[in-house]
Amino acid sequence: MSPDTAQLKRHQVLFLNRKSDLSLQVQLAAQLKGMIQSGQLGTGDPLPSSRELAAELKVSRNTVVYAYERLISEGYLSSRLRSRIYVSDTAPELRSAAQRRSSQQDIAPAVHVPRASYSAGPKPFRPCQPDVQRFPLALWNRLRGRALRTTNRSLLHYNSEAVLGFRPLRENLAMYLRDSRGVACEWWQIAITTGSQQALYLLAHLLLKPGDTVYMENPGYSGAVRAWKSAGASIEHLPIDQHGMVFPPLETSPVSLVYVTPSRQFPTGASLSLARRLSLANGAVSAQTWIVEDDYDSEFRYIAPPLPSMQSLDSGNRVIYVGTFSKLLFPSLRLGYAVLPKALVEPFTDLKTVAEDHGPMIDQATLAAFLDSGAFYSHIRRCRKNYAERQQVFLDAIQKGSLPLEFRYRDGGMNLTGFLPDTYDDLAWSARLKRAGLDVPALSQYAAGPTERGLVFGFTAFTPAQIRRGVDKLLGLKLDRPIPSSGSLRVAASGSLLAP
Ligand SMILES: Cc1ncc(COP(=O)(O)O)c(C=O)c1O
Repeated sequence: MSPDTAQLKRHQVLFLNRKSDLSLQVQLAAQLKGMIQSGQLGTGDPLPSSRELAAELKVSRNTVVYAYERLISEGYLSSRLRSRIYVSDTAPELRSAAQRRSSQQDIAPAVHVPRASYSAGPKPFRPCQPDVQRFPLALWNRLRGRALRTTNRSLLHYNSEAVLGFRPLRENLAMYLRDSRGVACEWWQIAITTGSQQALYLLAHLLLKPGDTVYMENPGYSGAVRAWKSAGASIEHLPIDQHGMVFPPLETSPVSLVYVTPSRQFPTGASLSLARRLSLANGAVSAQTWIVEDDYDSEFRYIAPPLPSMQSLDSGNRVIYVGTFSKLLFPSLRLGYAVLPKALVEPFTDLKTVAEDHGPMIDQATLAAFLDSGAFYSHIRRCRKNYAERQQVFLDAIQKGSLPLEFRYRDGGMNLTGFLPDTYDDLAWSARLKRAGLDVPALSQYAAGPTERGLVFGFTAFTPAQIRRGVDKLLGLKLDRPIPSSGSLRVAASGSLLAP
């Protein structure tokens, strides 16, 4: 044993816990750093060679090498002649900085720091969750590798000319949106964003000024509420009926922007009728109001092809079409988009440059290849079939009970809203389900002010077995205290696109 190793052993501070969540190299680096900060090791003290210390601690040599390299890069150690490692000259300054930091921490107010952890995935029946198990990850990784190889590292540079996204992705997406959603657009009108949430945020700051009024559906999407409020707008919450949002004529309304989910109203599931779509689109032109159409999951329509977008009815360039890959692929991808009227392309580009220059290029290139290869279309087709089956499994299972839930809109989507009679407290039901381990938000949670009562069940992320188990648990809770005499499940026809 060399004298250096003996010194470390003598202090008996090097103890590596093989059961710890922390890697051995992180533990070793932290303990050596602690010895330097506490003065047990001083400037110029030599450390044992990596080979020696590795043998002594019965760890691989790389563990010691990486720990040493880490402390060299942090300035605690330095390597000198013939690669001997010493405590560096800068260690005393680092030590006093560390002491200052720890005394400041003593007086600093407590801050909630979330634990580093990964999501265990949604619990039944969390709404709006795709089944990530079905995502073709191996293919995605192959396309990612190919994208990196064929672009010769150009994706690794700053790509400031791609503020609105990787051009092949915008081109492929434009083709998809024109063909599948009837969206009228050129590729350069598409802005790729960090989820549709960033699109909403940027649109809020581009189109609204403090005090402006925004019309929103009630109940509605809280991500959008937060975006409009962040720009200082005040929100007017409008009711929903079986034909979607009920709104006053835009021509006589002092409103700057209307946010709407016409294909499938979030969270009720109603579709905006054709008459109302036309009235909104035409009213927006006369009143010079912006319409933000959030088309978050319209691909999942089970009884017929998806409804065409509202943007396709817009003759006056007032509709901004917003979409996302969170539901079609997987949410942590954080890729969404906005299709901008031509006049907004330049100002949106300027604003987005301030926010983030451009989004992650490698993911965008992979997604472009995913669309190009056709895998995107097969994935949607498979999901649509699968989700339709799961919806049926859910409805069959819940119909075995006698809860007074009415599932009005069953033509598609990732969620089923079970409407409750007004006398029922949906918040209390949701809280009770939560205590039983079920994640079923109440309709009231999405609402500002009075609204219909109900529960929102997501079914897409759960296997038929999980769905049946979840429903059994729910029915076992005996929520159906005094049930009205006709209290069995009523399933109404799906929402209609025809004018009211
Ligand atoms: C109405 C609505 N729009 C958009 C999104 C998707 O947001 P993002 O693209 O930011 O994941 C969701 C997600 O639940 C949603 O419910």
